Amino acid sequence: MTTRTAAGARTLERKYYASKEVFDAETERILLRRWLYAGRGSSLSRGDYFLFEVDAESVIVLRDGDDRIQAFHNVCRHRGTRLTDVPEGSFSKSIQCPYHAWTYGLDGALIGAPFMDEVDGFCAEDYPLHSVAVSEWEGGIFVNLDPDAEPFESAFGTLIGKFDRWHWGELDLAHRIVYEIDANWKLVFQNYSECYHCPSLHPQLNRLTPFRNAWNDLEEGPFLGGPMRMSIEGGSMTMSGQRCAAPLPGIDGEDLNLVQYYTIFPNLLLSLHPDYVLVHRIERLAVDRTRIVCDWLFHPEAMAAQDFDPSDAIEFWNTTNKQDWQVSELSQKGIASRAYRPGPYSELESAIAAWDREYLRALGPV
Ligand code: FES
Ligand SMILES: [Fe+2]
Repeated sequence: MTTRTAAGARTLERKYYASKEVFDAETERILLRRWLYAGRGSSLSRGDYFLFEVDAESVIVLRDGDDRIQAFHNVCRHRGTRLTDVPEGSFSKSIQCPYHAWTYGLDGALIGAPFMDEVDGFCAEDYPLHSVAVSEWEGGIFVNLDPDAEPFESAFGTLIGKFDRWHWGELDLAHRIVYEIDANWKLVFQNYSECYHCPSLHPQLNRLTPFRNAWNDLEEGPFLGGPMRMSIEGGSMTMSGQRCAAPLPGIDGEDLNLVQYYTIFPNLLLSLHPDYVLVHRIERLAVDRTRIVCDWLFHPEAMAAQDFDPSDAIEFWNTTNKQDWQVSELSQKGIASRAYRPGPYSELESAIAAWDREYLRALGPV
């Protein structure tokens, strides 16, 4: 069932949590190269957009008039101006630069450029918005800022089809909480990757999923994790331990007694429950600052019921999140100390050891 082992691995050196040089290398070699989870497609009606930002890059993610998701660099082709700095909104039928009113269609084509017909040889077709690779999977929008991005289907091949039973793509947002914490983004992944801390930090969680009830079915590479068995048959991860909605269509048998946890490198945590899906989008803000956007997704039929009440699930994970963020902030402070030395992982932390290996492979020498 499991071949897990931390194989004598130790925690990462201090520079990975404290150095601007490492931070900048992460930008170039990881965040500008990998497929990143940007948000949910169902949040966008035709003409709606949101901005997705990585370092100095700002990407306009929108749904065009033909219902297609598009992604463009937020950079005017005239003199480079940002087309908008409003984080989300709606374009009527076009995107107009606020500077000299060059105007782009929702497909990125330049459709208006005042007085440029006076310029010899100017051809609007030569100046569409720079597009960004975009793909949709299970209702999630993923973008890749690398002009030579590996196709999404090949990069995510291991995962495609794996979560069909949850019908993740059909779910709607029931609740969102945005957290900002004083800790490096990797501490969030590492914290999520083990339940060694559950008995001491999360008594409410450990009661529902005793920490040794876990195994991993993805043990190496960019996607890691696996199920935990719940102690209450037919329960869920909620304050009461009971489901707060009917099981998702496709969930039956053993899945009714399991919660599944996956880290999706480099910016997504996916927690699949019998009755809902929890998504954490991890946004790196600074070497010691991270934003975490946490979404509770439920089936639209459950949400339409008069007595729908997700608060049992929201309170449970909000409580657990805050416990995790607090120790992550304490870890950041301790690791920043000159006294810090890498420490040994326990066998219960084998998934972190695997996550660190993948991170170091992606980052390369620094
Ligand atoms: S910079 Fe955008 S129209 Fe001039
Ligand atoms: Fe935790």
